[in-house]
Amino acid sequence: MLDHLSDLKRTHHCGALNNNHIGDDVLLMGWVSKRRDLGSITFLDIRDRWGVTQLVLNPDFQADAHTKAKEIRSEYVVAVKGEVRAREERNINKRLATGQIEVFVRELMILNTSSTPPFPVENDIQDVGEELRLKHRYLDLRRPVMQQNFVLRHKVAMAVRRYLDSQEFLELETPILTKSTPEGARDYLVPSRVHKGNFYALPQSPQIFKQLFMVSGFERYFQITRCFRDEDLRADRQPEFTQIDLEMSFVQAEDVWDLVEGMMVEVMAQIGVEAPRPFQRMPYSEAMDKYGTDKPDLRYEMELIDFSDDVRESSFKVFTDCVEHGGRVKAVCAPGAAGRSRKEIEKLETWLKKDFGIRGLAWLKKTEDGISGPIKKVLGEEMCASLFEKADGEAGSLMLFVADTRERANQSLGALRCRLAEELGMVDENSFRFLWVTEFPLLEHDHEAERFVALHHPFTSPLDEDLDKLESDPDDVRAKAYDLVLNGYEIGGGSIRIHRRDVQNAMFSALGLDKEEAEEKFGFLLNALSYGAPPHGGIALGLDRIVMIMAREKSLRSVIAFPKTTNATCLMTETPGPVAVNQLVELGVNIMRKKEKE
Ligand code: AMO
Ligand code: AMP
Repeated sequence: MLDHLSDLKRTHHCGALNNNHIGDDVLLMGWVSKRRDLGSITFLDIRDRWGVTQLVLNPDFQADAHTKAKEIRSEYVVAVKGEVRAREERNINKRLATGQIEVFVRELMILNTSSTPPFPVENDIQDVGEELRLKHRYLDLRRPVMQQNFVLRHKVAMAVRRYLDSQEFLELETPILTKSTPEGARDYLVPSRVHKGNFYALPQSPQIFKQLFMVSGFERYFQITRCFRDEDLRADRQPEFTQIDLEMSFVQAEDVWDLVEGMMVEVMAQIGVEAPRPFQRMPYSEAMDKYGTDKPDLRYEMELIDFSDDVRESSFKVFTDCVEHGGRVKAVCAPGAAGRSRKEIEKLETWLKKDFGIRGLAWLKKTEDGISGPIKKVLGEEMCASLFEKADGEAGSLMLFVADTRERANQSLGALRCRLAEELGMVDENSFRFLWVTEFPLLEHDHEAERFVALHHPFTSPLDEDLDKLESDPDDVRAKAYDLVLNGYEIGGGSIRIHRRDVQNAMFSALGLDKEEAEEKFGFLLNALSYGAPPHGGIALGLDRIVMIMAREKSLRSVIAFPKTTNATCLMTETPGPVAVNQLVELGVNIMRKKEKE
């Protein structure tokens, strides 16, 4: 009899049994995922990490177990002893690893009961709100799709470790309680009890420490580590996320790319995908011109076309005025979209106006009957025909134009390109297109703050040939920086670093940091650079994003076990939350009262 938990020894997992086990006596444990009563016979599905097995409770086989099964509800935890039998031919389930067999139960023990779950523990729960899932995350994670996502996450991390170990990288740790590391977001701060009024910052990345490892002579470092950034959250951004962070000494950008490509080949092999090498490369300026973004999705074409020169002499004032004032007239030509109604196009226009601040979206259609659309008359038949010709626009295509600053035209059309590709079914879910984006500008002008900021971070090296321009022409300096892009997501960013103290000083000064400030914030780095820092460079890859793309998920929340919502809360633990007054007193922290709304 199965009476005592201590007597039970599981013989197999729930995904293990097949035709080879027919006739065997087995002991399984798991959660009851489904129950069906057919006349006097009861079927239960029992589930664990490895799969599902069908149990048969037949009163003719064993009456007690059958009676006991009546008590069982979904998500009860049970142990069963029984005999493996072949299923009848018509009951064989080819989609299930255990679909050829079932287990006739001789003994059944309830190891634990379960309250009725707030949502079914199964894959297809589209109607269930995400809030409910996050509140009961431990149940959400029990669903087979989620289990698969986390198995994949583990496999990716292991593949990375194996590969980097084989390349003589050392896995070294860096502090979590540290000093601000600039990566463009706000810091999460931790008040110090011992030094009241002082704070640690959680690292936005291990950037400075990994550079110090190079100064220390470790040469090849990596870490799979948590980073913290207090920034506006989106589906592909979490406040704490995981980087595969690495750094190498005595290397050029090409060496880093080569290493990362080798690593990504191993990573993609985890889902049976062969990633062809070398990965495509594209300068930043080309990516912006052709795709309107520095992270283009290359699974489909539909490039942005610049018609500024073609329409310069037209009679359409919106276009000519724009070009005259230094703006651009650009378009995307969407194949098979000519069927869209005026209303549908207006919907796109409203969206782009709201999100990107463009002034309008002009359009032309080409069908078997010729070209039509509101700007056909003003541009003239001949010009319209030549625009479609330049765009290789076949009958059935819809051309959408934005006349605006180069930046706004690129951003809006880049987003439009992605949305149309999605809606028109142009995205191949089984395709994985890697791209190195190179030759980024070193600095970008922050119009609000009226100063330059680093596009990557302040430790990125300028191109050697642009070094002279750091003072005279900061706008024009290109960086030894690169991003790795996969299917329209930035999955990694890195650079060759500044390894000379004088260059680092020049960089800080280009960023408007005076000597004192630079010394106060980064004195330890500047000092280290003066003690024989070797040339070095590296990259950090977003583990969460990589796994999300590989799992064909749309949100990081599907691949982070206990994620935050878009307003940075954890619904399960109800974090962040208030703390006791005595804790605040100990820390010397006084909470400012929120002002009452006037
Ligand atoms: P960067 O800031 O580009 O570079 O970050 C590297 C990669 O980390 C991922 N990532 C994120 N993933 C989820 N949520 C976030 N909030 C988030 N922010 C970034 C992205 C990104 O490409 N120290 C440098 C690296 C270096 O220069 O070596 C750095 O942190 O996939
Ligand atoms: P209008 O002459 O202003 O009525 O505009 C004619 C068409 O051009 C409309 O479909 C507008 O949406 C479009 N349009 C207006 N401004 C722009 C712009 N800056 N870029 C592209 N199309 C525009």
